[in-house]
Amino acid sequence: MDNRHSFLHKIALITGAGSGIGRATALAFAAGGAAVVVADVNEAGGQETVELARQAGRDAIFIGADVSRSDEVEALVGETVRRFGRLDIAVNNAGIGGAWARTADYPLADWERVLAVNLSGVFYCMQQEIRQMLAQGGGAIVNVASIAGQRALANAPAYTASKHGVIGLTRTAAQEYARQNIRVNAVCPVFTRTPLFQGMIEGNARLEERLLHNIPVRRFGEPQEIAGAILWLCSDGATFVTGQAVNVDGGLTA
Ligand SMILES: NC(=O)c1ccc[n+]([C@@H]2O[C@H](COP(=O)([O-])OP(=O)(O)OC[C@H]3O[C@@H](n4cnc5c(N)ncnc54)[C@H](O)[C@@H]3O)[C@@H](O)[C@H]2O)c1
Repeated sequence: MDNRHSFLHKIALITGAGSGIGRATALAFAAGGAAVVVADVNEAGGQETVELARQAGRDAIFIGADVSRSDEVEALVGETVRRFGRLDIAVNNAGIGGAWARTADYPLADWERVLAVNLSGVFYCMQQEIRQMLAQGGGAIVNVASIAGQRALANAPAYTASKHGVIGLTRTAAQEYARQNIRVNAVCPVFTRTPLFQGMIEGNARLEERLLHNIPVRRFGEPQEIAGAILWLCSDGATFVTGQAVNVDGGLTA
């Protein structure tokens, strides 16, 4: 699909847009004509994304927000609306990986932090976004889950639980607000070449080989390929699609 002008005059908020999939998504929306709000805890990364979007000739601002804090999320959406007047598209993408350990050994601090960012963070964002979208008459939300939201990822119990939860929140809100013109979907990427993932496999060629082996296309995803699915879900090409968890996985789940 040609997205060059699909999002003209739209306002898109992307959390975790200072890096990886979030940055690629923000820049793809900007290329499609949207004004973008880049939210992140990483100000340097966020400002860099803003600069790149502005180079594409689009309006872009950075707002610092930790999605695990409901007060900061409320301020984030409030500031977005103060600045741009509305919120057409929200991509709840901010997320962390947490420790690698089996369930019985999993550190409690990591359990709490991963759930706080990946699951409560998405919930807080959806609450604020939906309230605004109800007030203005509609909108589109995409939550970034994971293949680990669809099946087990051994040694990542918190991450897996959080992403299963994100899909549950997505389906629930999609049913609740379908008649108010708010669509809510999720994307479920397989391993994608971002700083988060590179950090995980760096120096571990055996792990890289093992992960690749399960992906029929025999390569990892690129952030732009996840962004492409997110943009489609937010586009006029997907007006009959809601409550879905779309696997973007090189054929893994086939
Ligand atoms: N890369 C993969 O292989 C992969 C696969 C499936 C799903 N995902 C999901 O995609 C999303 C993006 O991941 P990525 O790979 O681009 O990672 P990344 O680390 O490159 O980017 C994540 C961004 O989120 C920000 N962030 C972290 N905690 C935050 C918080 N509390 N509040 C606000 N911002 C916060 C980080 O500062 C960072 O800029 C995550 O939800 C991740 O779980 C990634």
